Amino acid sequence: MATHKIAWLPGDGTGKGVMEAARIVLDAIGLDAEYIPGDVGWEFWCKEGNPLPERTVELLKRTDCCLFGAITSKPKEEAQEELAPELQTKGYTYYSPIVALRQMFDLYTNMRPCKAYPGNPLNYRDDVDIVVFRENTEGLYSGVEFHPLPQEVMDALSVHPKMKPFTHVSPEDIALSCRIFTRKGCQRIVRSAFEYAKKSGRKSVTVVEKPNVIRETSGLMIREARKIAQEYPHIELWETNVDAMAMWLIKNPQDYSVLVTSNMFGDIISDLCGQLVGGLGFASSANIGATYALFEPTHGSAPKYAGQYKVNPMAMLLATKLMLDYLGEVDAAQGLELAIADVIREGRVKTYDMGGTSTTLEVGEEVARKLC
Ligand code: IPM
Ligand code: MG
Repeated sequence: MATHKIAWLPGDGTGKGVMEAARIVLDAIGLDAEYIPGDVGWEFWCKEGNPLPERTVELLKRTDCCLFGAITSKPKEEAQEELAPELQTKGYTYYSPIVALRQMFDLYTNMRPCKAYPGNPLNYRDDVDIVVFRENTEGLYSGVEFHPLPQEVMDALSVHPKMKPFTHVSPEDIALSCRIFTRKGCQRIVRSAFEYAKKSGRKSVTVVEKPNVIRETSGLMIREARKIAQEYPHIELWETNVDAMAMWLIKNPQDYSVLVTSNMFGDIISDLCGQLVGGLGFASSANIGATYALFEPTHGSAPKYAGQYKVNPMAMLLATKLMLDYLGEVDAAQGLELAIADVIREGRVKTYDMGGTSTTLEVGEEVARKLC
């Protein structure tokens, strides 16, 4: 029996191509693993009314971790139009499978390293090395939303004096998305960030929130961060408001090391940080919980490039590196990162975003060659 059991979920769009590149590299490493393919994404929404079929959830439960390509996600109305005609009246609503998987498997840490590899022509600066810790299961993406607003929800909210201007709005004309933070949720993401900083010898953790305005949720995160920081006397806690952070990340990104934030702010800030190191073609994610983990590129499925093998697989390969770390294959992980850095530095084999003409698979093959 193979040492590692890995759920293999290419998804759709360019997800399939970048996963093929990952497989070329994993085969070159000779990882002792069984890769079990699973269905997820747009195709299954259109055909079955469910982008994350139950059989896929069951498959994940039988594996050690999951490697995930990309999935298309569209707003509610557009998704509805693309559903098979015979399913149109069944009451299905589209939801994002990746957000669902994060919540279902309680993958509360979303770790997104953004490191400038030397020689990458797309680097904003060559000295950026930031790791974003994004809370991954709650906050504004918890999915507790209402439209139209039920009367009982309006009644409950009316206990708050600031609701006054809204109480006369008709239910159809008001929508509500809840930003839910729990003490446990705040504590565990802040702890993940500090633990990582400690292990990797980093000197600061910056908590990125907005407690001057969003007093209760951002406030809870900051208060918990201050308590946890006391357990790590060698690591400084910096506090920055999210709007100012966006500015500082453009002005002085080299000053920042580990960032920790809530779900939506992390979504936004991690795209910004990705762009500092070459764009989403270089941004990888580890979604990690207590008992399971899923690894993916931060980018979406870019459906217009589907099947063209044009897009940069580096983000996917860096996600594969994060998976190897998680599986305890540290030498393989390190070797893969060195091979990736080599290919970037040489700049011979590169995709269109880097000014080259190589295909997704050619980049995978070149990284694989560097491994051997
Ligand atoms: C990400 C993506 C997802 C998110 C989308 C595809 C639902 O933007 O992983 O950052 O919002 O989390
Ligand atoms: Mg995002």
